Amino acid sequence: MLKRIQSLLEEVENLQASNAEELETLRIKYLSKKGALSALMADFRDVPSEQKKEIGIRINELKTRAFDKINALRAQLESTDSDTEVEGLDITRTPYPIELGSRHPLSIVKNEIIDIFSRLGFSLAEGPEVEDDWHVFGAMNFAENHPARDMQDTFFIESHPDVILRTHTSSVQSRVMEHTQPPIRIICPGRVYRNEAISARAHCFFHQVEGLYVNKDVSFTDLKQVLLLFAREMFGEDTQIRLRPSYFPFTEPSAEMDISCHLCGGKGCSFCKGTGWVEILGCGMVHPSVLELNGIDSKIYKGFAFGMGVERITNLKYQVKDLRMFSENDKRFLEEFTAAN
Ligand code: DAH
Repeated sequence: MLKRIQSLLEEVENLQASNAEELETLRIKYLSKKGALSALMADFRDVPSEQKKEIGIRINELKTRAFDKINALRAQLESTDSDTEVEGLDITRTPYPIELGSRHPLSIVKNEIIDIFSRLGFSLAEGPEVEDDWHVFGAMNFAENHPARDMQDTFFIESHPDVILRTHTSSVQSRVMEHTQPPIRIICPGRVYRNEAISARAHCFFHQVEGLYVNKDVSFTDLKQVLLLFAREMFGEDTQIRLRPSYFPFTEPSAEMDISCHLCGGKGCSFCKGTGWVEILGCGMVHPSVLELNGIDSKIYKGFAFGMGVERITNLKYQVKDLRMFSENDKRFLEEFTAAN
């Protein structure tokens, strides 16, 4: 037995491998379950007990040497591999131009919107894109049979009719109000989904920024002033706004806001279809039922809310003609915004 160990030890010390395959063959030959060391261990059972100690020590020694040798050969092979790579490298070659990424136009505009409202004391809030019917519609005062709940507009999951993709960021109003008492002053940017055929003017997902202010003594004048300031920061100091009466289930009164066309200065051009005005958002005073549905006392508190489409604002700022450009990741399009970063 001792002789066998000695000769294996010599073999192991002299092992050589010139590639990974050869090394693997050696590993199998000596270290695998069917290898020489395992066979030795099997025979060790029959060694008379007075010799067990000495032979045990020698076998352990052999085992350590064999592992060390195989590992050393592996390390040697790996370092030769990377040496060859370094040898092939021409460090005098002119480098490839390094392309820097730039922000997506929607992110640029979203960040600008966030920045303006942050300066007015609004903080950021977020909610889930995969929502339930309650937060998207119920808590926002949509009647049970309101057409916006129709399968045409909303993406449902067939097996779970209560699970939907949110159709607007107004759901975040409810998510915040249900666990916060006023004063509340938040903006909620995020992606929304609608079951629309994709074209240059419509997409099945887009982005909105929602705003909500709830406090004592909030008036429509406050809403108008905040939105006027926003429009002027976003589109320039000369921008005018106009509010047209409208309808949303979650606000009363409700309005849609136009800004004076910043391309023609309000004179009328093809962009504003000759009217001098372009629509940018929906807004209104939070409906008392919305406050109550979300646990806020409408006798003490009032609020205003607004919601705008980020694609819409981006189109106004940069005249992007086709909505699909925003999600196609065409580098030629994205590179046009590098300077705006
Ligand atoms: N949720 C509306 C939409 O998706 C936009 C909106 C209108 C939000 C009026 C508001 C609001 O907060 O007050 O079309």
